[in-house]
Amino acid sequence: MTGGPDLRVRLGALELAHPIINASGTYDVLAVAGHGPSTVPFSCYVPKTVTLEPRTGNPPPRITETPSGIINAIGLENPGIEAFIADLPRLAGLRIPVIISVGGARPADYLAVVRRMEERLAAAGAGRSPAIAGYELNVSCPNVAAGGLSIGADPEALRQLVSAARPLTARLLIAKLTPNVTDIVAPARAAAEAGADAISLVNTFKALVLDPVSLRPFLGNRTGGLCGPAIRPIALRMVAEVAMSVDVPLIGMGGVTSGLEALEMIACGATAVAVGAATLADPRAPARILEQLSAELAARSLAGLDDVRGTALRDS
Ligand SMILES: Cc1cc2nc3c(=O)[nH]c(=O)nc-3n(C[C@H](O)[C@H](O)[C@H](O)COP(=O)(O)O)c2cc1C
Repeated sequence: MTGGPDLRVRLGALELAHPIINASGTYDVLAVAGHGPSTVPFSCYVPKTVTLEPRTGNPPPRITETPSGIINAIGLENPGIEAFIADLPRLAGLRIPVIISVGGARPADYLAVVRRMEERLAAAGAGRSPAIAGYELNVSCPNVAAGGLSIGADPEALRQLVSAARPLTARLLIAKLTPNVTDIVAPARAAAEAGADAISLVNTFKALVLDPVSLRPFLGNRTGGLCGPAIRPIALRMVAEVAMSVDVPLIGMGGVTSGLEALEMIACGATAVAVGAATLADPRAPARILEQLSAELAARSLAGLDDVRGTALRDS
């Protein structure tokens, strides 16, 4: 082997230099101190979910630590698609592709965001912009009253949304699934059959923490979404179940903090691995995870990720 293991991966038509990407909502390229747009430690950038209209999000407190993870109820605070578009030139220096995470209260809102973005990208003289590789439909946010989770937990609703979004773009179309279901395979199948190029999983688990003094819900939204190491074994199981049932590439996420844990996601069938809570705790975590992943492959004398993908799914 020369030059170390081959870390390149392919999500549909999109080739990525390596499999480590950011989980939406946990890394702001423009806000991370000491990092310019050209020094992002990911192979692809997924900004915070954007909706048609601006959203102020949920009342505080909106995030807190738990014994082995983070619980948040941000509530999809974002400036809306028009402000997002106006801000795109600030991301133009990015040397990696961008996948736009799309949210909405109704299916029509998701479609309007994709349509508006495509119009903007097609417009003559559209101005400076990063390379927009595709869309991740966030049908899985547990912290908004309408839409989100309810679409992701209903395979038929998800099938209809993906079918309607499919003709709007030739770019990559990804469905991000909620783990708050009894059967993760049903929505995954529905999304793939409706034309999704890839599936991301998992979003956060609906959870509750109490204020220890008042014994009342701590978060302003009462419940929130749990992520981080606590959810990793469940996320792994869900990635494995989906990998055994659908043919599209998977972006696995949930509690990954090390190269070995990223490798485990890949062994369970993931093509790419997203990192969220670990980056919130330490912005240098993704670069370390990538280095460790490469070292794990080298230590096992594996030439590339194809040699390990899905090994956990085999009978022997
Ligand atoms: C503070 C915070 C904000 C998040 N915002 C979003 C979001 O806007 N859109 C989305 O699809 N997921 C969002 N997520 C979920 C993550 O993208 C990811 O699916 C989840 O945290 C599991 O990965 P992790 O355990 O590595 O954090 C958010 C998570 C956190 C902790």
